[in-house]
Amino acid sequence: MARILITSAIPYINGIKHLGNLVGSQLPADLFARYSRARGHEVMFICATDEHGTPAELAAAKAGKPVEDYCAEMHDVQAEIARGFRLSFDHFGRSSSQRNHKLTQHFAGVLADNGLIREVAESQVYSIDDGRFLPDRYIEGTCPNCGYTSARGDQCDNCTKQLDPTDLINPHSTVSGSTNLEVRETKHLYLMQRSLRDKLEAWIDSKHDWPILTTSIAKKWLNDGDGLQDRGITRDLHWGIPVKRGDQPWPGMEGKVFYVWFDAPIEYIAGTAEWADANGLGDDAWERWWRTDKGASDVTYYQFMGKDNVPFHTLSFPATILGSGEPWKMVDYLKSFNYLNYDGGQFSTSRGRGVFMDQALSILPPDYWRWWLLSHAPESSDAEFTWENFQASVNKDLADVLGNLVSRVTKFAKSKFGDAIPAGGTFGAQETALIADLGARLRMYETLMAQMEVRKAAAELRGIWVVGNEYLQSAAPWSVVKTDPDQAQAMIRLALNLIRIYAIVSAPFIPDAAASMMTALNSTDWTWPSDVHAAIRALPAGHAFAVPENLFRKITDEERAEWQVKFAGVRT
Ligand code: 2FM
Ligand code: ZN
Repeated sequence: MARILITSAIPYINGIKHLGNLVGSQLPADLFARYSRARGHEVMFICATDEHGTPAELAAAKAGKPVEDYCAEMHDVQAEIARGFRLSFDHFGRSSSQRNHKLTQHFAGVLADNGLIREVAESQVYSIDDGRFLPDRYIEGTCPNCGYTSARGDQCDNCTKQLDPTDLINPHSTVSGSTNLEVRETKHLYLMQRSLRDKLEAWIDSKHDWPILTTSIAKKWLNDGDGLQDRGITRDLHWGIPVKRGDQPWPGMEGKVFYVWFDAPIEYIAGTAEWADANGLGDDAWERWWRTDKGASDVTYYQFMGKDNVPFHTLSFPATILGSGEPWKMVDYLKSFNYLNYDGGQFSTSRGRGVFMDQALSILPPDYWRWWLLSHAPESSDAEFTWENFQASVNKDLADVLGNLVSRVTKFAKSKFGDAIPAGGTFGAQETALIADLGARLRMYETLMAQMEVRKAAAELRGIWVVGNEYLQSAAPWSVVKTDPDQAQAMIRLALNLIRIYAIVSAPFIPDAAASMMTALNSTDWTWPSDVHAAIRALPAGHAFAVPENLFRKITDEERAEWQVKFAGVRT
């Protein structure tokens, strides 16, 4: 039994995430967590909401709520939707937790003690009426290039020209509309990543088994001319973790907070501490996952994220950890994903384009989405969601292949042999061949799951369902029962056990259907079928079973057309 630590990139608090976000981090992380647990490993699976930064402040202002209240509410909304998708986090934390405040301030303190923080003076726009510095997105004005009147401080959305806030004509604060602005000096803390470059490179080079997508992004940022710059880790904002040096004030940094990307990954650790707190456990309970001097040296740590997050997890966060000089557990395997597109364009949170997690659950149960998303995970390249493909995949894989097998076998068994598994006959050549085939396929499935080859594992699982169907097709107990009822009983005994095996191995993908299958088979024995010969005989003759409700329904052409229209527009 191994100890496996799994973190999913933590979603921003501002709004409900779309299916592209889900398949890029939380869902594959859940698949791996469920699989690892099913194999008997000790798993710690952590996620959280990423609550700081200007987008959170802006969203709260738009909602007309204090940012603390907004974040608390949105955290609960996101937690509820995560439950709806059956994401099996051990803890879904909050980056605004006191645990994260303390840890983030601790890391900044030790980095400073180690000479890795320097102060940099910068010029920034200050709004006298708002009493605050304005980050680029809080300033709007007329573009000097094209005359567009709502150009932002960092870029003109009309002509795409990159701007400096001081370039804007008639700049005003988007917080209050005030034009009473001036440029002021402000000081910020910079993490001296450049002096950690060699250590970072050696660490990345030691990861021989990382996916190409991960390593290529890390290397690009490490080696590009301006790749590994020293990085500002503080901001002039009100909402965030106050800048402190450990538990001491940081002279000159009063009123400033840490940059959201500095504290967000630290929340992986803090979230585990929150888990311990929530369960009434002491510090040693979370430290044994994170401190190599306190038991974490036998932990294997996996991270899941979209490709845009890779630089922060291969360079910035490791720079924090390595720079601390403390024995923190670092990531062993970083699984990253390309993008999922939506029906000929991109999913977009800011533009409300695509299907969002709450909308998805309002039209179909989680397993339908989990199956499609995971079996089409954007691993080797970007992938695309289309309603046609979704309909075809649900109807074929889930309804025709798996659902039909379960329903046909249980109904036939009940009508011919009653409510218990029949005792007659023995397994013959066809059954022996199926068992051997299943064994080989299951070993391949296990290999792919262990390698986190999500799409290939889904294809293998589908193959495992298909061989069961092919067996039934050719064995045809419904015909054999007329001439050799004993032999038909043996076939059905095998088929009912096959359903239990399918439930166990499919559960990481489709946990609800798996649970229904186990309930119908009146079994609570989720032991992984490492030994197929034993597993195919696990439910003995005489064991009671029931016919489950239809596991999956088909998506009709009318529904597909209706949803296509319903989700074509922009969510407001
Ligand atoms: O891209 C995002 O959604 C970020 N909120 C991910 C942060 S992951 C980590 F740093 F915590
Ligand atoms: Zn412009």
